[in-house]
Amino acid sequence: MAASTEPKWSTSECASVMPAAAASRRPAEIRPASTTHGTPWSRAAFRYEITQNRVARCLVVRLDGRLVGYLCLWEIGYEIHITNLAVHPDRRRQGLARSLIQSVLEDGRGRGVTLAFLEVRPTNAEALGLYESLGFSVIGRRKGYYFDTGEDALVMETRLAGARSDGAV
Ligand SMILES: CC(C)(COP(=O)(O)OP(=O)(O)OC[C@H]1O[C@@H](n2cnc3c(N)ncnc32)[C@H](O)[C@@H]1OP(=O)(O)O)[C@@H](O)C(=O)NCCC(=O)NCCS
Repeated sequence: MAASTEPKWSTSECASVMPAAAASRRPAEIRPASTTHGTPWSRAAFRYEITQNRVARCLVVRLDGRLVGYLCLWEIGYEIHITNLAVHPDRRRQGLARSLIQSVLEDGRGRGVTLAFLEVRPTNAEALGLYESLGFSVIGRRKGYYFDTGEDALVMETRLAGARSDGAV
């Protein structure tokens, strides 16, 4: 059974793709994948995050030169807030989102980040399953958070075990 759950590429392959892609920071290459849940960010929203927002980072994954996934976050003090995550429909269920989040958490942990959190729609079963499998748990609910549907958001967080203890939260 273990073999069937392994990603079809190695973590190091994924990790080696991301820094180069992130360093290029070309907003034009980041196109919102079609999403099942909610309204994708506009190009202007990506551009703002990448070029203006000093606490934001966006990482992308390319396979065969094609952008197939992205994750955006804010890092403020010792906290990471995952603000956007999507994988192209053709590449889902291959471990990409898991690798993206694990890379971000591992990187943050190494720099003393102690907490990561995010919002998710209660109806987004695939994302909920992903986050729970990575140790996130629901800590609250924001009423009417999503402007497009008026849906509430579940707030999920994970404490980063092994993070340096010298950071104030
Ligand atoms: C949510 C999303 C990012 C997951 O990306 P992904 O690369 O397919 O996810 P992974 O392959 O890394 O899956 C990791 C785990 O997530 C859960 N998961 C992912 N897709 C799932 C699905 N369709 N049904 C149930 N669980 C699912 C599983 O626990 C899975 O582990 P497993 O494959 O070992 O069972 C992707 O479905 C997506 O882009 N959705 C649209 C955008 C979106 O909803 N983003 C999240 C906003 S909060």
